[in-house]
Amino acid sequence: MTLSSPPVFNRLRVQALAFLQDMAADNRYALTQEQLQERMAAISEEIDQTGTYTHTTEELEFGVQWAWRASNRCIGRHMWRSLKVQDCRTTKDHAGVTEALAKHLDMAWQDGNIQSVITVFAPRVPGQSDQADVVRIANHQLLRYAGFEQEDGTVLGDPHSVEFTRRMLDLGWSPKSRSAYTPLPWSIWIQDEECAPFDHFAQHPEQFPEVDITHPDHPGIDALGLRWYAIPLISEMALVIGGITYPCAPFNGWYMGTEIAARNFCDPARYDMIEAIGLAMGLDTSSNRTLWKDQALIGINQAVLHSFDRAGFRIGDHHELGAQFERFCKIEDKAGRKLNGDWSWLSPPISGSLSPQFHREFDNTVEAHTNFFYQSSPAADAAVRREDSSLDDAPRTSDPFHLENQHETPRCPFGFDRIGKVLPFKRPAFLKGKASGH
Ligand code: ARG
Repeated sequence: MTLSSPPVFNRLRVQALAFLQDMAADNRYALTQEQLQERMAAISEEIDQTGTYTHTTEELEFGVQWAWRASNRCIGRHMWRSLKVQDCRTTKDHAGVTEALAKHLDMAWQDGNIQSVITVFAPRVPGQSDQADVVRIANHQLLRYAGFEQEDGTVLGDPHSVEFTRRMLDLGWSPKSRSAYTPLPWSIWIQDEECAPFDHFAQHPEQFPEVDITHPDHPGIDALGLRWYAIPLISEMALVIGGITYPCAPFNGWYMGTEIAARNFCDPARYDMIEAIGLAMGLDTSSNRTLWKDQALIGINQAVLHSFDRAGFRIGDHHELGAQFERFCKIEDKAGRKLNGDWSWLSPPISGSLSPQFHREFDNTVEAHTNFFYQSSPAADAAVRREDSSLDDAPRTSDPFHLENQHETPRCPFGFDRIGKVLPFKRPAFLKGKASGH
């Protein structure tokens, strides 16, 4: 194995610098040019010696928050300052990981007053793609319902989970019972090795808070027996801070009602309940033109908000979050701070034109140096490493939100060779003697 090539080093320096500049410009940190230059010199030195650099606790704390702020698709990121970090960069074994995840759930839950938390496991060494990741989680979310394939071809549970559920069963997971709402076990990978399914919630159901969905005026909806869990906790995405990739950094926020009601319950490829809900509400489902689908959609959205409120579980609605996000856009705009966004995600799936986002245009450029990215599964990554130590670099997708395409969307507005000229301080030591190019 060879150390990273200089272009990898240089790209990392550009991204580290871009991140540090953002941090320096933030009024909480307000680093002086001197401090910035000093830290950059230290980072550069560390990269020369080890091929990577280590974030300070402060950099990690600001980094996760900045990554959230850069997440174009998230309507809740005006709260980016509130994200708390659990630093698990040195956690190496299965027991340590499960303990950290249980702790994460505790930190997040707060008796229903859900707090945004991220747990950060070991980073990857840039350019050393033949090296196994220390920790990965294969689950899409840490709390999620299984999808069991039935003999008749239908799915019991969440169709989104079918493949994952099949894998867990193949590996020996035996749930006590199978329902439409069976919590999935965790699939943790240590050093490219897939561990046995870990059914945390079988032992700790109290860490899987759920709500029965009822409607204030439609008992027919209550009778459908719908339920949902309280904490959305994404566990498969990669976190990137200043060019350093953390392939395992599970994070949670709290729900916006439409995510559960419109998408999870009514998407045709999910629980697909729109007709059942319409009938439960006694609507005339014989013609599209009665707009019964729209009424059913509103009904189930009312039910989800009502049920979470009644249980005392934190949940946002699209009007509240839309208005808050719009205020945030205006403040950032006024302060001259760029805020990108993805219109198709920021506009809610119901009553679109009632939200301010619908009437705005967003620049969907992806911030490359610090952000959250989709990534290939731990199984796919491990397979590539097993067959060939030189990881095939070609993107398998053109999605700019995918980790593999990070380099396609450089954010640094100037070439690496021009850093010394653009910055208001003297040419950094690591650039000395380099006229141009990489
Ligand atoms: N939409 C996803 C779901 O319904 C959750 C994504 C994250 N959502 C959030 N509010 N933080 O499970």
